[in-house]
Amino acid sequence: MTKRIAIIGAGPSGMAQLRAFESAKAQGVDIPELVCYEKQDDWGGQWNFSWRTGVDQYGEPVHSSMYRNLWSNGPKEALEFAEYSFDEHFGKPISSYPPREVLWDYINGRAEKSGVKDYVQFATAVRWVDYDEDAGTFAVTVEDLKTGKTSTDTFDHVIVGSGHFWSPNTPEFEGIETFPGYLVHAHDFRGAENLAGKDVLLIGASYSAEDIGVQAFKMGADTVTFSYRTEPMGFDWPKGMEELPLVSRFEGSTAHFSNGETRSFDAVILCTGYNHNYPFLPQDLALDSPNNLYPDTLYRGVVSEHNNKLFYLGAQDQWFTFNMFDAQAWYVRDVILGRIQLPSKEEQRQHMDQWLGRFGRLKSGDDEIDFQADYVRDLIEQTDYPMFDLDEVARIFKSWQQDKMENILGYRDRTYRSVMTGTMAAEHHTPWLRELDASLTRYLSEPEQDEIADMLAGRRTGSKH
Ligand SMILES: Cc1cc2nc3c(=O)[nH]c(=O)nc-3n(C[C@H](O)[C@H](O)[C@H](O)COP(=O)(O)OP(=O)(O)OC[C@H]3O[C@@H](n4cnc5c(N)ncnc54)[C@H](O)[C@@H]3O)c2cc1C
Ligand SMILES: NC(=O)c1ccc[n+]([C@@H]2O[C@H](COP(=O)([O-])OP(=O)(O)OC[C@H]3O[C@@H](n4cnc5c(N)ncnc54)[C@H](OP(=O)(O)O)[C@@H]3O)[C@@H](O)[C@H]2O)c1
Repeated sequence: MTKRIAIIGAGPSGMAQLRAFESAKAQGVDIPELVCYEKQDDWGGQWNFSWRTGVDQYGEPVHSSMYRNLWSNGPKEALEFAEYSFDEHFGKPISSYPPREVLWDYINGRAEKSGVKDYVQFATAVRWVDYDEDAGTFAVTVEDLKTGKTSTDTFDHVIVGSGHFWSPNTPEFEGIETFPGYLVHAHDFRGAENLAGKDVLLIGASYSAEDIGVQAFKMGADTVTFSYRTEPMGFDWPKGMEELPLVSRFEGSTAHFSNGETRSFDAVILCTGYNHNYPFLPQDLALDSPNNLYPDTLYRGVVSEHNNKLFYLGAQDQWFTFNMFDAQAWYVRDVILGRIQLPSKEEQRQHMDQWLGRFGRLKSGDDEIDFQADYVRDLIEQTDYPMFDLDEVARIFKSWQQDKMENILGYRDRTYRSVMTGTMAAEHHTPWLRELDASLTRYLSEPEQDEIADMLAGRRTGSKH
């Protein structure tokens, strides 16, 4: 009997899983029957931007936390697929930090090329997954969001690729209910245009705070203040941007900080992260972890310790993204195909404990990068996913960290060389700080250079004046 596999979510992780099976099929391997359930009308997960907030057209929680003018916050050379390069997709060198629409186009391009769309049931939400101990199978109940019809199907394996940056963590702050201005969690932030001329407070000290703060500054906010709980981000902020310790309470539009300072704000954005949330899984199967690099109970970061027929993709906090999801998907595929034998439960636990031990000893961002590079290497070594120079990717990540320290408003103008093809990234035609149009069309266009762009990019203008 052909095995039946349910994949939950067609974001970059779910798409990687489809591609992994398809690549085995192209080599003549008999692959299982695949059904991928995706609650949105299209694939791409977080990269499938929605203007909506709250609930979507079907009354489902909106999944994507991305905003209109989001640009990649890491160099694309660190996330490139090892078997589908940016060169192959775009046919010309592009810059190192593409906007959201360009990266969606890239992941869409690979999946379209491998013809895996037929496996996906769009506008279909997974409602519940039950494991039948006796039969050794999962019953997956889904709802067709267009008709409201529910149905249940049986599967040998379930692969969870539903993401973990969609269910906002919204801590309480004393008096916040009296704040009269614009107040949202980063999940519902869609663009910084309305922050021009405003005093903006971001609570949190990670990527969302950093990037939304920088966006606000770019779009003309008067002041941008970050409030940290544990540690400041410590970038060399320009005049008008500052970091203060945690807000202790709000009184109307005034925020009181724990160091005794006060400031008045027009807008507050909670950049306080996300919780893992798997409402379709019973408690004993749902991953329960903070957002970190090595969630416990996942053998090799993907196999559920509680049920070895259940897998998670992309459940880690992410330095590596697309190519790590590939490494995971190829590994999961090979476990399902029987090419990789899982060790005993005891050996799995020992293996997890070893990695958790190392994870617990990480001290710096550089350590985290090396840790995740080694994790990806460990997976790739066991499959036929093309190995790539992970040390070089780690070096790119570290250099990116340095670029941000040097110039948090300008790091996206730097360029890197592809680890996969050796191609040097192109310089984008417009410095990021001046580029207000993040569309694919504008990105791929070749506008006339203007003098201000040249000056800002530090190039000679060639001006006749
Ligand atoms: C604001 C933001 C910006 C980011 N920027 C970058 C960046 O610049 N570079 C980078 O490399 N990474 C970035 N990331 C990281 C991002 O998490 C990954 O790039 C990637 O999208 C993760 O893929 P995924 O498939 O694991 O999860 P997701 O992209 O979250 O996809 C999960 C999919 O599962 C579907 N789903 C969920 N629940 C159900 C259900 N019950 N039934 C059916 N379908 C379901 C969702 O609709 C979604 O399509 C960013 C993340 C966020 C939140
Ligand atoms: N492409 C882009 O430009 C872009 C933009 C935004 C986000 N992203 C991605 O989105 C993902 C999520 O990033 P994120 O920044 O939203 O989440 P995150 O990295 O998990 O960070 C959460 C932040 O919230 C803080 N926090 C949590 N609870 C708090 C509380 N009670 N009070 C005060 N602070 C609290 C944490 O502080 P502590 O440090 O004290 O724990 C941490 O700084 C990442 O993968 C990131 O790369 C990308």
